[in-house]
This record gives sequence, structure tokens and C-alpha cells, in this order.
Amino acid sequence: MQEIGIGIIGTGFMGKSHAMAYRAAAGLTPGIHPVLVSVADIDAAAAARTALQFGIRRHTADWKALIHDPEVHVVSITSPNRFHLEHALEAIAAGKHVHCEKPVAPNSDDARVMLAAAEKAGVKTQVGFNYIKNPLLKLARTMIASGELGEITGFRGIHAEDFMASATEPYSWRLDPTGGAGAVADLGSHILSMARFLLGPITAVSADLETVVKQRPESAGSPVLKTIQVDDIARLTVKFARGCRGHIEANWVATGRKMQLGFEISGTKGSLSFSQERFNELQFYSVDNQGRHKGYQTLVAGPEHAPYGSFCPAAGHQLGFNDLKTIEMAEFIQSIVKNDISGPDFKEAWEIQRLVDAALVSSKEEKWIAI
Ligand SMILES: NC(=O)c1ccc[n+]([C@@H]2O[C@H](COP(=O)([O-])OP(=O)(O)OC[C@H]3O[C@@H](n4cnc5c(N)ncnc54)[C@H](O)[C@@H]3O)[C@@H](O)[C@H]2O)c1
Repeated sequence: MQEIGIGIIGTGFMGKSHAMAYRAAAGLTPGIHPVLVSVADIDAAAAARTALQFGIRRHTADWKALIHDPEVHVVSITSPNRFHLEHALEAIAAGKHVHCEKPVAPNSDDARVMLAAAEKAGVKTQVGFNYIKNPLLKLARTMIASGELGEITGFRGIHAEDFMASATEPYSWRLDPTGGAGAVADLGSHILSMARFLLGPITAVSADLETVVKQRPESAGSPVLKTIQVDDIARLTVKFARGCRGHIEANWVATGRKMQLGFEISGTKGSLSFSQERFNELQFYSVDNQGRHKGYQTLVAGPEHAPYGSFCPAAGHQLGFNDLKTIEMAEFIQSIVKNDISGPDFKEAWEIQRLVDAALVSSKEEKWIAI
């Protein structure tokens, strides 16, 4: 049994999700045992609470102490985006493997610095594009690659939620331009990662970014309003290297939508349709099914779609969000022990960040940007 020591920076939505995932990952990594060694948060009380809740050995308000803890082999960064660079560079310099949440950095220059440092140090990296860890998306990718859909003629992707829809939603780190763009970085990075995972590189972007809520309270309930500088909605047209084109929307003011991360991919022989809101199902249309069988059919996740079977031996019982995070962490830990690539790594995150940067420039200059 090989133990891998884990340190988690940040104890919010993602910090807790990472803690749950590392604990559950042992079920997918026979012979390798992730151990929660330390948790850090600028809020010392939050770090202490999280340590108690998850049985983490140590807690600290000093993220550098966590990184230099000799029992920590992997550092998971779940702090707000503008801190990712300094946390990652310190961890890499200390020779630690790094998992960093998305978007990896506020801009592609910072992402490239992180990539170069990791490559030089020879440490493993991974970035939190958890949704592409869905076994049914691996099936979709295989179906596309094997030609089951024929020649791909178009991609329509969306990541829409409504957590910023209310104008009373206060200012937060997500709206701080020093942390990067708005919806196009926060949600757009997920659908861009999905598009690249399924169809490969994107070579050009034309984008229109819009700030719908122009001012927000500087804190919850405050009468003082702050002007918003980042986008609420991003509408992109993209060109893929394989020849097809697509539309992508990132939108965090889509009233009523909680997790509309999905796509439709059309090909000459068939189509696929997917939504994260029903992510244990993949809709497949084949032109071969005619007459009474014409229409989309629902492919249901089951043990034949690895690693679903590591969670449950029966189809249709369904995976959940934290199971995707568990798959992500299990694959990362295995890649460290086996010295191979799990991904998406800092290289992939840099490629995605370049697309986000291109969308910003395209919208500002009202022109296509080649990558
Ligand atoms: N992969 C996903 O599906 C997903 C979902 C949500 C968020 N995220 C990403 O995860 C990251 C965190 O988002 P969240 O929703 O968990 O945020 P959050 O606000 O819920 O939590 C952030 C935590 O970081 C702590 N923190 C702030 N500054 C710090 C510092 N300098 N050092 C140490 N700790 C610090 C805060 O106290 C808080 O506990 C972001 O990059 C975000 O984009 C990814």
C-alpha cells in the first residue's frame, strides 16, 4: 500500500469537494491510499472546521506551511483564481505535484508561467475540468473518434447557470477583474474544455461579451454599488482544426438554469446530445434508424462505461457531481504513481486560457482572433 499525502488550500465549495473526492478515490486506486494531511485557509477557523469534519491531520492559516509540510506530496489549490499563480509556483518550487482548480489563472500569460515551471520541475499537474471525467463523455469521444457520427458538421455548446442573475447578488472574487474574465472564464472554460475533449483544437474565435448587471452591492445588503467590469454572457463562434465550426455560450445570468452544461454535436451519420443536468444519459441519433425507430435514443450510464462499475455494479443507479471529482482525483493520483499523464494538465489549461483571452480581444476589437 502506497500512501500519498494530500494538502488542500481553500475550504469553500471546491475545498470540500476535493476533500470528499480524495477520501473516496481509494475505491478506484487499489494499492494507493490518498491521505488528507493538511488543509489551509486564510480563514483559520474555516480550516479548523474542515479538518475536524474530514479527519484531516493538520490545519493552518498559512498556505506556505501546508506546501512545505514534508508529508504533503500533492497540493490541491481551491483558492480564488487570482491566487492560483503564487500558490502553484510555491508548490512546484517545493517539488510538489499540483492540482489546481479552473480557470487555472486570470490570463494565459500566468498560465504559461505555471506550465513552464511545472515542466521544468518535472511535477505532475491537473486542472479541475471535472465534467469531462464523466464516463459517458469518454463514450461520446470514442464514438466521434471511431466515425460513428460520420464527418462532424457542427457543435453547439452551452454552460448556463443563474447564480449571478439577481442584481442584488453582491460583488465577490468572481467579479474581480484581477482574477480574470467573468462568465467566459468561470463557465466558458468548462464548455471549452468539453469542446476540445470531444472535437480537438479550436483555431479561431469570434466573440461578443456582455455585462448585463452593470452595478452590484459591494457586499451583501450594502447600498453602495460597485461598477462591474467583467462579462455576464459570452457568445462565441469557433473554428475547429478538424474543419467544423461551432457556437458556444457561457452565461451566469440565465434565470432558472442551475447547471445547463451541454452540447449537441451533429455529423453526417448521426448526432449526440448531452446535458449535465441529466449527466447519466447520452442522447444518440443515428441516420441508420429509420421508420418506426427514427429519433434519438437514450444511452444510460452503467458498469460497461468505466469507471462507473467501481462505484456501482448496476446500470441506471447514477453517478453524482462528487463522483466525477473522485474519478478526477483517482486518475491524478494514479498518474503520479505510474508516472504517466492523466490530464487535463497545465498544458491543456493554458490552451483553454488562450481561448478565453482570445474571446476578450475578439469582443473588444470586434474581429476574429486566430489562436
Ligand atoms: N471544477 C468546478 O466545477 C468548480 C466549481 C466551483 C468553483 N471552481 C473553482 O474553484 C476555485 C474556488 O472556488 P469556490 O467556489 O470553492 O470558492 P469559495 O469562495 O467557495 O472558496 C474559496 C476558499 O478559498 C479561501 N481563500 C481565499 N483566499 C485565500 C488565500 N489567499 N489563501 C488560502 N485560502 C484562501 C476562502 O476563505 C474560501 O474558503 C475557483 O478557482 C473556482 O473557479 C471550480
